[in-house]
Amino acid sequence: MEQSTGGGYLNVLASGDLEPGQMREISAGTHRIVVGRLYDGTVVAFAPSCPHEAAPLVQGTIRGGSIDCSRHHYMFDVRTGENTFPLPIYPAWKRAQVSDLRLPIFPVIERDGWIAVEPEPYQGRVDDDQENTELKDSEQTSSSRRD
Ligand code: FES
Repeated sequence: MEQSTGGGYLNVLASGDLEPGQMREISAGTHRIVVGRLYDGTVVAFAPSCPHEAAPLVQGTIRGGSIDCSRHHYMFDVRTGENTFPLPIYPAWKRAQVSDLRLPIFPVIERDGWIAVEPEPYQGRVDDDQENTELKDSEQTSSSRRD
C-alpha cells in the first residue's frame, strides 16, 4: 500500500508490520526500496540490490547499523550508504581498483503508526551534502521508535 503524507513522503508500511531486525521490499513511486528496522527501533530505507554484484539485500541480515549481504558478506551502513566491509580493511591500491560501492539510501520517517519513505534516494540530489546531513539528523530523531 502506498499513500501520500505530503512533503513527498509515501506511507508504505504500518509500523506494526516491521519488527526489529526485519526488512521488507516495497514499491514507492518508480523505485523498489528495502525498508528495515534496526534493533534500536530506527527505521531505515535503502536500495534493494547490493552494489557489489546485485544480490537482493532483503535476504541479508541487519547487524547494528549495517546490512550484511547474504552473498559475499559485504556490509553497508544503512544510514550513510558507505561500505563498512571490506573496503576499510583493503590496502589503498586495492581500494583504488574497486568501483563505487555506495548503497543508495532513501529518506524515511515513522509517524502516526506509519512508516513513510520519500521515493528519491539521497545520492544524486543537487543539494545533496548539506541538506542530507540536516535531513538525516532530523529524521533520525523523528524515526526513532517511541515505546
Ligand atoms: S553481491 Fe552482495 S556482497 Fe557480493
